[in-house]
Parts: sequence; structure tokens; C-alpha cells
Amino acid sequence: MKFFVDTAEIDAIAELNDLGMVDGVTTNPSLIMKSGRDILEVTKEICDLVDGPVSAEVVATEADAMIAEGRKLAEIAENIAVKVPLTWDGLKTCKVLSGEGRMVNVTLCFSANQALIAAKAGATFISPFIGRLDDINIDGMDLIEDIRVIYDNYGFDTQILAASIRTVNHVTECARLGADVMTAPPGVIKSLASHPLTDKGLAAFLSDWAKTGQKIL
Ligand code: E4P
Repeated sequence: MKFFVDTAEIDAIAELNDLGMVDGVTTNPSLIMKSGRDILEVTKEICDLVDGPVSAEVVATEADAMIAEGRKLAEIAENIAVKVPLTWDGLKTCKVLSGEGRMVNVTLCFSANQALIAAKAGATFISPFIGRLDDINIDGMDLIEDIRVIYDNYGFDTQILAASIRTVNHVTECARLGADVMTAPPGVIKSLASHPLTDKGLAAFLSDWAKTGQKIL
């Protein structure tokens, strides 16, 4: 499973990228707002830092304007994936931009039918939002499972980009169910390394080591 990092914070992306943990980046208007940066500038910096796809989202809601914004975002760098919301106009935009050979990430997906039509419109990535479904007491993992089955039934090559990942268990489940990609905030990716028994075991080893009075260096 590929790891995308869901942030527009350059330092956080760089830290994970240095460890080989970043196969791509996703941003959205809320993340750009949080960064306090200009969208074109910060997206260019991210694209220069990371080899994989970098999603940058349009904010227009009518197809012609979405297409124009998408083309402008795509000019930032070769590795831009234009992110469009899963609306009818978003699908029109997806069809046009993917036809021009650009990567398109169709976002805000909350149903298997939405994922099906996004694939038919030529989406490179479909972004089902797990955490936001969990927030309304619908199991987001059922959606990942349904999309995996449907895409495999018909050989769609649209990649399932599990989004709105909030916990390490979400990551495990996405990998188990065969999501192609997951995108998570830096904190969730870093916490994949944590386990209380690791901390407990290390504390015990260090305590015993201190009693030996030895040094390795
Ligand atoms: C994905 O592309 C979105 O930017 C993101 O995963 C949304 O996550 P949230 O529901 O935690 O805001």
C-alpha cells in the first residue's frame, strides 16, 4: 500500500520523505488554509520535494471554471494530481482532464456508486473518506471493501486512495482490504511505529543495561 501524507506542512512532509515514507501528498483547501501559505507556492515546494503524485484541489464548482483551475494547478509540476469533488461538474472535469493525460483525484467520495462513476469518468484516484463516515456512525471500512470488489469485478484501474484516516487501525484495515493508497496526517503515520509493549520492553532493557555498567561506544 502506498503512503500519501495528508498535509501542506513542508517540514512534516520532508521529515517523512527522508525516511522513505512518502509516496505522494494530498492537500485540500482546509489544509492550505491551515498552512497559511499561498496555494501555488506551497504546492510547488511540495512537488519539488516529493517524487510521487501531489493532489491540489480546485475550488470552483462549475465544470468550465473547474477545468480552467485544474489546468492551472497542473502547470505547477508534472506530478500534480488535480483534485475535484465528487459532483456532476467534478466528474465532467475529471473526464476532460484525464483525457488530457493529467492525473485526477476525485475526492469527497462517500458511496460505492460514487466510486463507480468516478472510475467510469477516468479518475486516477478515488478518495473515499473513512473517518467522516465513522463520524456519522457508518463503517468507513465497508466502503473500502465494496469499492475494492467493484473495481476488481470490472478491472477498473482507478486507484483506491483511502482518505480521512484518523487512527492506526484505519491503516491496518485499509492494507488488509487492499486499498491501493492511504493518505493520513503526519501524526498518524508516525504513530504507526508506536506500541506500548515496545516502550515497556525498551525501558526494561535500558534499566538492565545500566546495571551492567558497560558502554558500546
Ligand atoms: C484527503 O484527501 C483529505 O484531504 C483528508 O483525508 C480529509 O481528512 P479529514 O476528514 O480528517 O479532514
